[in-house]
Amino acid sequence: MQIRPRRNRKSEAIRSLVEETSLSVKDFIFPMFLIDGRQQKVEVASMPGIYRYSVDLMLKEIEECMKLGIMAFDVFPAYPESLKDKMATESYNPETFYLKALREIKKTFPELCLMSDVAMDPYSSDGHDGIVKDGKIMNDETLEVLARMSLAQADAGVDILGPSDMMDGRVGFIRAALDDQGFTETSIMSYTAKYASSFYGPFRDALDSAPKFGDKKTYQMNPANSKEALIEAELDLAEGADFLMVKPALAYLDIIKLLNDNFALPIAAYNVSGEYSMIKASAERGWLDGERAMLESLLSIKRAGAKVILTYFAKEFALIKGR
Ligand code: PBG
Repeated sequence: MQIRPRRNRKSEAIRSLVEETSLSVKDFIFPMFLIDGRQQKVEVASMPGIYRYSVDLMLKEIEECMKLGIMAFDVFPAYPESLKDKMATESYNPETFYLKALREIKKTFPELCLMSDVAMDPYSSDGHDGIVKDGKIMNDETLEVLARMSLAQADAGVDILGPSDMMDGRVGFIRAALDDQGFTETSIMSYTAKYASSFYGPFRDALDSAPKFGDKKTYQMNPANSKEALIEAELDLAEGADFLMVKPALAYLDIIKLLNDNFALPIAAYNVSGEYSMIKASAERGWLDGERAMLESLLSIKRAGAKVILTYFAKEFALIKGR
């Protein structure tokens, strides 16, 4: 035997020399859940270690994360039922707590990268990402609402808008609205290939945003398909997206690679709530080593071609790396 691949694995020093992929806190965007009020910090039952914060405590948490090197945050609001309606009008109310919090976060920490979520579901009494009429999701009418909330979020100072709704044409529609109002510097990270996935379950608990009827299969992608992801990516590129996102991450590593091989834009992957909770739940039972499973999952997402990873593990990773 002249060729022995094990020679390159014989010591930690050699293994790290030949290591192709490595993770850094700089790769991560930390998704966080916002609630109204003050002095509120409530753990999400299905996501151990992840909390809904009121803005005052979120500012503290962000500061702590920044000290650990995390520089990018994606904030999602949880709204009470009483503020939801069919048209998601609360999403662009200038006095709404989400917009006020975004403004305050960006003002307090101008150097961080602040991302927001563009979709109707947290504000929709139907729990859907589009306007519902006669049980149908209305694509083109929804674009108007998405543009209004995008402008409101851009005005609050966010760096990156994340349209997570999967309506056709929304990236171009939002881009045009932003440019028209002078927000040419506001970036768009499109949820390009967002699948109709069971792995969003804990997130919908966190935001109380589960659909009130039906499912999201007429707008989110079929998990059986990959070619559709290429069509979505071509559209998002042409419509002016700055990042292409694949979501979820772990069951869709092939899609991350497909987009990374075919597009020059940076690829982002969303390591979603269910992917987080699966590892947490089995680690709690002692069924696997949670820390190693976390590192291995994040590494595989990066190896597949994700430049940016949105993950609830961001802080835990930073704490481990710092020790
Ligand atoms: C909604 C949205 C969802 C997530 C991010 N934005 C859920 C959904 O589409 O129902 C899921 C994130 C996660 O599971 O961590 N627009």
